[in-house]
Amino acid sequence: MLRKISSIDFKSSNTTSGKTVLIRVDYNVPVQNEVVVDDYRIVKSIPTIKYCLEKGSKVVLMSHMGRPNGKRDNNLSLIPVGEKLAELLEMPIKFSEDCISDDAIDVSRNLKDGEIHLLENLRFHEGETKNDSYFSSMLAKHGSIYINDAFGTAHRKHASNYGVTDFFSTKGIGYLVEKELKFLSDKISNAIKPLTLIVGGSKIDTKIALIQNFMDIADHIIIGGAMANTFLLSEGYSVGKSLVEKDKIDLAKNILIEATKKGTNIILPTDFKGEMSHLGSKKYCHAKKESIDENMVCQDIGEESFKLFHSVLNESSTIVWNGTLGVAENKIFAEGTNSIIDFIASNELTSIVGGGDTVAAIRNYNEDCINEFSHVSTGGGSCLELLSGNKLPAIEILR
Ligand code: 3PG
Repeated sequence: MLRKISSIDFKSSNTTSGKTVLIRVDYNVPVQNEVVVDDYRIVKSIPTIKYCLEKGSKVVLMSHMGRPNGKRDNNLSLIPVGEKLAELLEMPIKFSEDCISDDAIDVSRNLKDGEIHLLENLRFHEGETKNDSYFSSMLAKHGSIYINDAFGTAHRKHASNYGVTDFFSTKGIGYLVEKELKFLSDKISNAIKPLTLIVGGSKIDTKIALIQNFMDIADHIIIGGAMANTFLLSEGYSVGKSLVEKDKIDLAKNILIEATKKGTNIILPTDFKGEMSHLGSKKYCHAKKESIDENMVCQDIGEESFKLFHSVLNESSTIVWNGTLGVAENKIFAEGTNSIIDFIASNELTSIVGGGDTVAAIRNYNEDCINEFSHVSTGGGSCLELLSGNKLPAIEILR
């Protein structure tokens, strides 16, 4: 059983003062010129922090950022994150430059009720990614209760989310992780049917487990993005100069055969927008799947495909979406992806979205749209693992 934060007592039994809670958060967020440019993960960590503070406890936060390979890298310091968090919470945050130094542990031990202490990037020590036991034991000195609220890192088996749990008898998950598991696991296992998966992106390899898992549970699987080109090629269509994975053609063919056997409806685009390069010049073009020119590069789905996809979505009660349908970072080829965003934003259904590129596409299109989804995951790799039917080690260790 996973222990939820609401079942934990944050007050010391013999005094009126609060206990110190060590929370693993995922503040691996983009920073430019020492300023956080996307605070989604930080914002989503706030309910757990506030709850602990309201219960009178002291909070120590730890996270990684980037992949500094066990060495200090000032470009990957959590100082800008601390500044953003202080701004969002409207309170000062204590900060330590080394997550396991004696000074840092002293700061945690001397916290007053209601105070927050943020530790510097865990991955400045190689013990973090090696799940080193000594490093875990040092981290554990920061608190007497352990909470994991770092969903984005839950597919990793590292010291701060795996080894450290050995040193705590009181441990559990925070609100962010609780909500992620509710939507990415419970709401999908017990989905209100029909259930449709929309999968996009360029590489079949990274999404194969996801497609296979949903073949057993979904009614429809819509495939877009460059991945669709390889599927069309496997059906005998020519896709011009579009991105394809030639070594995955047989795999794509087998997926289509398996889906037919299982009665899962796989829907591929029927027309495309793209570019045509001929004699050194480029022009925009549109083509149906039967007549893609040998010089065309498909970059987005066309309007006939929007209509086809919308008709499937119209019949769906639950939609799970991972991967963009075109080259969404280019406005001209974001229309297919945007049409899905518009559809979800204007219809009452359970909509679950995950994956960094997809979330970025929604935010680029319309920041407010994010609130129209039932759930927008803070995880990339961890979200894909869970949707692929795999377990997350950092969550399993807490059961
Ligand atoms: C993420 O952003 O996906 C997580 O923070 C995990 O980061 P990692 O892939 O560097 O472990």
